[in-house]
Amino acid sequence: MTFDVEEVVKNATNVENIVGADFWHTAELERFNVPRVRCSDGPNGIRGTRFFGGVSAACIPCGTALGATWDKELLYRAGELLGQECISKGAHCWLGPTINIQRSPMGGRGFESYSEDPHLSGTLAVNIVKGVESTGVQATPKHFVCNDQEHERRAVNTIIPERALREVYLRPFQILARDAAPGVLMTSYNKINGLHVAHDPRMINGIVREEWGWDPLVMSDWHGTYSTTEAVNAGMDLEMPGGPKMRGRLGDFVQSSRLIKQSVLDQRARRVLQFVKRAAKVEMKEGPRDLPEDRALNREIAGKSIVVLKNDINLLPLPKKAKKVALIGSHMRLPVITGGGSAVLNPYYTVTLSEALSERYSASGTEIAHEVGVPAYRMLPQLSKLIQRPDRSAQGGIMSFYNSPPGTTDRKLVVEEHFQRAYCQLMDYKHPDLNFELFYITAEAIFTPDESGTWDFGLSVYGTANVYLDDELIIDETTEKQKAGGAFFGKGTPEKIGSKELQEGKEYKLRIEFGSSATSTSPQIGVTTFGGGGFQLGAARRVDSAVSIDRACKLAQNADYAILCTGLNAEWECEGTDRLMYNLPPRIDELITRVLAAQPNTVIVTQAGTPFAMPWQKDAQTIVHAWYGGNEAGHGIADVLFGDVNPSARLPLSWPATEKENPAYLNWGSTQGRVMYGEDVFVGYKFYDEMERPPMFAFGHGLSYTTFEIKPLAVSETGDKVSVEVKNTGKIDGTETVQVYVHAKTSLIRRPKRELHGFSKVTVQAGKATKIEVAIDKYAASLWDEAEERWMREKGEYEVLVGSSSREEHLTVAGSFTIEETSWWLGL
Ligand code: BGC
Repeated sequence: MTFDVEEVVKNATNVENIVGADFWHTAELERFNVPRVRCSDGPNGIRGTRFFGGVSAACIPCGTALGATWDKELLYRAGELLGQECISKGAHCWLGPTINIQRSPMGGRGFESYSEDPHLSGTLAVNIVKGVESTGVQATPKHFVCNDQEHERRAVNTIIPERALREVYLRPFQILARDAAPGVLMTSYNKINGLHVAHDPRMINGIVREEWGWDPLVMSDWHGTYSTTEAVNAGMDLEMPGGPKMRGRLGDFVQSSRLIKQSVLDQRARRVLQFVKRAAKVEMKEGPRDLPEDRALNREIAGKSIVVLKNDINLLPLPKKAKKVALIGSHMRLPVITGGGSAVLNPYYTVTLSEALSERYSASGTEIAHEVGVPAYRMLPQLSKLIQRPDRSAQGGIMSFYNSPPGTTDRKLVVEEHFQRAYCQLMDYKHPDLNFELFYITAEAIFTPDESGTWDFGLSVYGTANVYLDDELIIDETTEKQKAGGAFFGKGTPEKIGSKELQEGKEYKLRIEFGSSATSTSPQIGVTTFGGGGFQLGAARRVDSAVSIDRACKLAQNADYAILCTGLNAEWECEGTDRLMYNLPPRIDELITRVLAAQPNTVIVTQAGTPFAMPWQKDAQTIVHAWYGGNEAGHGIADVLFGDVNPSARLPLSWPATEKENPAYLNWGSTQGRVMYGEDVFVGYKFYDEMERPPMFAFGHGLSYTTFEIKPLAVSETGDKVSVEVKNTGKIDGTETVQVYVHAKTSLIRRPKRELHGFSKVTVQAGKATKIEVAIDKYAASLWDEAEERWMREKGEYEVLVGSSSREEHLTVAGSFTIEETSWWLGL
């Protein structure tokens, strides 16, 4: 970019470029030749600049799925794909990866992050960041730090011991600072020990810049700059989004009150300009990419992320041919590709499991039949396939935007937008002639039910809305005082249901009259006000679950085997709210239990971003966990079920049987504005190990269709590597994930029994053996010394364990190394 940073710093006015220009762009300073730079969400794909009506995009598997691959090289390639996707959306800056820690399975955004373990999380983040940045796009690890829950995420004061902060929550960011030093860092919404991170000079200027020597552009999370002076002084360079909210009066502070030094303000501006200067040359238009090689990579990632949890009777891999197979469950025909919130995007395409299985079964002449059993939605499924435009020209509907309410004489149409599904999120929606203070939408479509019976319609809105069917009011969310619900980042009303008897194949006129966010009467909780608000409308024919469970059981019983696919979705796991319950949605456990009783040869396939209760676990002999799998979710699962991919994924987090067993249970959610990280450094498997209470499935667990023997060979004298021989003792080729844990045998301080400090994937042919070396991180022998306020490499003996999961029974002592003298340091 052809501008001189110092020249601009000297001559621009104080506020000009340290505030974004709008929702997704930095400011353009035409007279200095400083172009605007575009940022785009999110962790599993690049949405572009519009939540509503945006361009289509690649959707890769969610964070926990990427974590489950334990595959550095694959994450690098996933990063390259995301970088290319950014370029196709005209974005210079990727708002990812999310590297917070799942201290509880109940986090609404747990699905976005990689792991409960800081070493696994940081190492994978390094690789995806390097992949993204190899394309010239700058990466933005987020949210720095401890945005590990959604409840009161802006207010919550995280009370945390310094040692846990350093060893667990800051550690992935520190690994990134050391091994990748990405261009940008996003601060979190929450406080740490009394101070918002966004205002905390110790966190930003102190730890990131001085201690770690990493000097990224530091930007706020969206609407997460809460002050004018403090954030600037703490080191926060860029307030996002724009225009100026907190920074509007910055000039005054420098000139009259001297609350901010001119040199500090110059430094903030300098960092923003350096970021702009580093930005790759990207054509700022948004379009699709969707190349065959991207699809292939996406499918590979999906397959490599799927964890086979149980295969007790070797039902997997499935035979290529059977007489009849029962396909059951809520997720069989639903594309469940990501969790909810800013991770959501408009996918190029989706592949459901049913579609992927049908491709195979039709080729082999296997008969298949479907039963839903129990639906898994939290709100009724958004209308899409059953609606078409009023002129019948395409699927979906038309939204007409106005600045005056319905019934106004001479009401002037401002703009018309087409929608494909009845979900409209106007947080970043813009139109030059629309009055953003208050506007109205009339949404219209023709609805044709595919079954006769009682249909339930469900509306959630941020703003107000009425729903009409053939001009009859069926839902009124305008007249009464509204309540707070969960949708729209916590701002939407709880779903309101209206019902009607309808006939299959008959066309009904559907109309929604919407008033923008300003008309809302719901309590203002959730994120700060966002743009115009939004609404969603779902519909489904009412079914009697008792009857549909019976039908599913009968189908399973009469088949050679059954595949039952169910789980959570973007409504249950969503930014803005934490999960409400650990169980699967109502009656799904009952469905699973009954189908298992009817047909023991049932593969249970689950999709969710984080663990959930499996009260039927002991009855199920075959369980496969498939996360949120992106565009290629269905293919990825089918590849594993049929053995085209020999599974090699391992759990990146512990899976407790009940919510009460998890280490954060007593200290979860915000209690009048605070949360205590009482489990200290004993997060995830470190807690279960310490308590000698194994979770249902352990961190690192996952099965293969072959068997391996991991034979330790030697640990280097300095403890920086271990060599092992991996033998494939089975009949097919496969990939083992070698995990290296370190146990501080003689520490004077209470430390976790073992910590992961190295891992490597190795592919070995059937019957063959391969020798590999796995690097051990130098932090293996170190802990944060709270008294000295530094890292301490403690003298003593360290045992190195290698194996295939974090559990003792899967680990072998490879040897040990000794640290002769205790030493301390600050930095990386
Ligand atoms: C989220 C960020 C996201 C930003 C922009 C915030 O609410 O916390 O992760 O990048 O919005 O959508």
